[in-house]
Amino acid sequence: MAGHVPLLRRLPSGVNVRNAGDAEASVPSDTIRAAMIYLDHAATTFPKPEEVYRDMDAFVRRAGANPGRGGHRLAQEAERMIDETRLLVARLAGATRPERVVFGLNASDGLNMAIKGTLRTGDHVVTSVLEHNSINRPLERLERDGTIAVTRLGAGPDHRLDPDDVARAFRPTTRLVALTHASNVTGTIQPVAEIGRRVREHGALFLVDAAQSAGVVPLDMERDAIDLLAFTGHKGLYGPTGTGGLLVGERADVRPWREGGTGGDASRPLQPEEFPHRLEGGTPNVFGIAGLRAGLRWVLERGPEAILAHERRLLRGFLAALKRADAFAWYGADRALLDRGGEGRVGLVAFNARGTPPQAIAAALDERFGIAVRPGLHCAPHAHRHLETFPHGAVRISVGALTRPEELEAAAAALDQLAG
Ligand SMILES: Cc1ncc(COP(=O)(O)O)c(C=O)c1O
Repeated sequence: MAGHVPLLRRLPSGVNVRNAGDAEASVPSDTIRAAMIYLDHAATTFPKPEEVYRDMDAFVRRAGANPGRGGHRLAQEAERMIDETRLLVARLAGATRPERVVFGLNASDGLNMAIKGTLRTGDHVVTSVLEHNSINRPLERLERDGTIAVTRLGAGPDHRLDPDDVARAFRPTTRLVALTHASNVTGTIQPVAEIGRRVREHGALFLVDAAQSAGVVPLDMERDAIDLLAFTGHKGLYGPTGTGGLLVGERADVRPWREGGTGGDASRPLQPEEFPHRLEGGTPNVFGIAGLRAGLRWVLERGPEAILAHERRLLRGFLAALKRADAFAWYGADRALLDRGGEGRVGLVAFNARGTPPQAIAAALDERFGIAVRPGLHCAPHAHRHLETFPHGAVRISVGALTRPEELEAAAAALDQLAG
């Protein structure tokens, strides 16, 4: 408990990071950052490893040109940097064809490319209640337009999907199974290998949303029969925002979506058929991809398993330090964190305080204790219906590779104090 008081005192008096626009503008951001304990890594990891800032800066100062295969040496160097980043993404994901790593803005871009680029009128899609809106919303739109039919599978009390439920949902028209690998609300990792096998047997395509798993859960598109894998660069890959995309397996035929220049053969009237340019039109995010390359190198050097083990240890320490755990309702199989070492989960946990809205808890943590967490529906309304926490949602604490145990101890002490 001692941890939060000095932290609070470091904030100039009257600063309300959440509400006070004027005060916020007048407080140097370094002061806020130094005073905050950041436990919102599932939204985006922050801060990034020093190497990410350093390499981004160094690369774009040296070779921040517009990439182009036939261009000058600086353009070629930018192109080589992007290709090396594709290689690192492919290595992380167990994919054999780096040119099929397609860059976009984030996981949402990857999911939209996959969903809108593969589905046709009359198709059926299997998805689940655990999905983020970047799967829910494109599917809902196509369903409302009358283009597709959707089956949304429930999750069990352990917040896991049953691979047999997926198999039972198949119809002759099922073209796509679209599921999250790790839920951003419950933290549970889904049995993608078992599901992938069933999807392959049926002949549909398997789209996996790896927004919360890439960088912490080992991925293997080949082994797990994943045809389309959407990833984001700014979470567990420690790159900057504005990076992410889609890996496209050999069985998937994704239609071009954003057509434009590719830095290659400009004489063709249509977008090239070949990957990656088939799905990449326009100047890429060279700054961002340079940072993503540094983030990927950093993650690969440490290994996703080691990062996940660190995150599970942190959450176990948090739950063990809490004296008033009974004052809160815990979601996401929290006992698994203590009893089974966090097996089957990524580094986040959601909870509510009885009788207090999650937004009030998060605001108190922010303003009184300098702790940043995420309240609400986490862009996953069906997951909160599943937890019976809709419409207010819950408070989510999420950790990253750079989170320190004492930060979780301070969070536990703050919650104990709020519990009274
Ligand atoms: C499970 C899941 N899927 C998709 C997304 C979307 O990621 P992005 O905002 O990078 O597009 C998120 C982001 O929180 C997520 O948690």
